[in-house]
Amino acid sequence: MNILLLGSGGREHALAWKLAQSPSCSKLYASPGNPGIAEEAELVSLDAGDHAAVAAFCKDRAIGLVVIGPEAPLVDGLADSLRGEDIPVFGPSKAAAQLEGSKGFTKDLCERAGIPTAGYIRTTSLEGAATALGRFDAPYVLKADGLAAGKGVVIAETREEAEAALADMFGGGFGDAGAEVVIEEFMTGEEASFFALTDGAAIIPFGTAQDHKRVGDGDTGPNTGGMGAYSPAPVLTDDLQARVMAEIIEPTVRTMAAEGMPYSGVLYAGLMLTEQGPKLIEYNCRFGDPECQVLMMRYQGDLVQTMLACAEGELAKLGAEALTFDPQAALTVVMAARGYPGTPEKGGAIDLADSEGRGAKVFHAGTALSEGRLVAAGGRVLNVTAMGDSVTAAQAAAYSAAQKIHFASGFYRSDIGYREVARERG
Ligand code: AMP
Ligand code: GLY
Repeated sequence: MNILLLGSGGREHALAWKLAQSPSCSKLYASPGNPGIAEEAELVSLDAGDHAAVAAFCKDRAIGLVVIGPEAPLVDGLADSLRGEDIPVFGPSKAAAQLEGSKGFTKDLCERAGIPTAGYIRTTSLEGAATALGRFDAPYVLKADGLAAGKGVVIAETREEAEAALADMFGGGFGDAGAEVVIEEFMTGEEASFFALTDGAAIIPFGTAQDHKRVGDGDTGPNTGGMGAYSPAPVLTDDLQARVMAEIIEPTVRTMAAEGMPYSGVLYAGLMLTEQGPKLIEYNCRFGDPECQVLMMRYQGDLVQTMLACAEGELAKLGAEALTFDPQAALTVVMAARGYPGTPEKGGAIDLADSEGRGAKVFHAGTALSEGRLVAAGGRVLNVTAMGDSVTAAQAAAYSAAQKIHFASGFYRSDIGYREVARERG
């Protein structure tokens, strides 16, 4: 089967690597891709915003499955346009992608379905927001409703800081995403990510992970898209995972289907493990980046068949072997370009040397070729990923690989996995 993968980050490199391993994959195309993805796929240049052009490409190349990596084309309805042309797609419809595209939509859904999450107020005006603030205690959690590339959440320590952030949001600081704002109750606990595949009816747990969102060691400094991750997340015990399925994922999928917006694809739940149990922080309508990289290292099934079953509404027919994960831990360290998450330096030279030996895998996130040489071309540049019998062992293997890479204008956190490593030490 011919497959088209859309996207250009480390998440898509990991997906390309896994898709290409499937005996069902005859030809993999990727758009726009990156130099790492080019090792697995033929790169093509399609405008994901031009749905007719993507559909025409799929017809022309007899594409049997389109995998949409990032959220923006999903929220924009690309999956609907392709399905309208009978092209199988892994990824939710525009209506279902509102679970990521509108924080207010998801909060209302949680309320209707009785899903545990932080208390909230939606508001479309600065005056309304100022009044709403009075109903919460510090710290204040303020969220631009729409897609804001992971930057739409502000945790304000004081009322003054909260008011300034609200003025920025309503003043257009987050573009259209800030036209509506959600103010939430602050939750405390450890964060973890839970993934599920669904075709709208059947639901299958698809792994757990923990991410490190802050740029600096010890979770300091500004938020990023994620500086590293590991899987599984043992903090999500079997018992907690069963609760997440029963209390959060299943009611979501059932309610979406009942309301005429069946969800198809991967549902990524960002969770807060509170004293009262797991609560939903947010949903994403795609795999996490870099969580996908660690999931794909461990995934042992046939990703093409699994995604196709999802796309075609046949997930219930998949055999158990399609859903097996290596029990070992996988850990990924993000190498970023100096300046990230502000303005990253572009063009820094990269030499991967022999970093990929001994089971480590380097996924490309933001790289380009310049006169035949690999250079940095984004904020997050490489995802150095390795496996081990424990998170401690996977961490040692990933850092040993990272140390072999020459990337003078790059940096990385030195403590990815620290919580779990401390627990493993006892
Ligand atoms: P989100 O983009 O919604 O995942 O939010 C980004 C980060 O903000 C999360 O990973 C949490 O660390 C934090 N956050 C979001 N909502 C809350 C909340 N209600 N209480 C505490 N922290 C939160
Ligand atoms: N790593 C967080 C995300 O993909 O949203």
